[in-house]
Amino acid sequence: MYVCLCLGVTDTQIEAAVDNGAHTMKQLTSELKIGSQCGKCCQCSKSILNNKLIKIAEAEPCVA
Ligand code: FES
Repeated sequence: MYVCLCLGVTDTQIEAAVDNGAHTMKQLTSELKIGSQCGKCCQCSKSILNNKLIKIAEAEPCVA
């Protein structure tokens, strides 16, 4: 699904960037340039980022 129509960035690309270490919107913007044009994709991108971070955290074994 396209998230950023201005730059043609998909949810799959955002999730891959998070997997590769982009864990903040600033890092995502730096890597994929999302939000750098009209900015309408920022809210959706942030939701995808947060959901992906939750999935990563849930998949990690508890070390406490
Ligand atoms: Fe992403 Fe316009 S939709 S900057």
